[in-house]
Amino acid sequence: MAQYKLVKCTINGKEVEKMVDVRASLTDMLRNDYRLTSVKKGCEVGECGACNVLIDGECFNSCIYLAVWAEGKNIRTLEGLMSPDGELSDIQQAFIDEAAVQCGFCTPGVIMSAVEILESGRDYTDDELRKLLSGHLCRCTGYENILRAVRKTLDKRLGKIQ
Ligand code: FES
Ligand code: FES
Repeated sequence: MAQYKLVKCTINGKEVEKMVDVRASLTDMLRNDYRLTSVKKGCEVGECGACNVLIDGECFNSCIYLAVWAEGKNIRTLEGLMSPDGELSDIQQAFIDEAAVQCGFCTPGVIMSAVEILESGRDYTDDELRKLLSGHLCRCTGYENILRAVRKTLDKRLGKIQ
């Protein structure tokens, strides 16, 4: 018989609470209970990065993270990146400008990893960026464009380019 537990957390800046099945993944909680469908179900075994979200500022595969572990945590998904008036964040815009989006299935997860990289406030070489993004599978083979979008946004934030 399913057991349920109250999970209180912050999602995209809003304090929320819901009873969740103790067996549910964070992916399922975010998609089914909060309709945050940017969180994609790819492999569901922690291999592809499509489900990545930020938990207290750190990127995790939400498919292998239990929903009940979200208690007291600050969760961020792609939906939280846009400004209240609907303006895209710099990294989202860069993905469009660099044609780093093809089918788009992997994109929200990759962008959340990019947000973790960008918010670290430090610079990285291209090789380091490749390694940091290597947990993501993109079946449309958009890796070079993805790297360019992250590179460009990082350089802009660090004031290296306009
Ligand atoms: S769906 Fe979570 S890592 Fe693939
Ligand atoms: S854009 Fe299609 S899987 Fe990455």
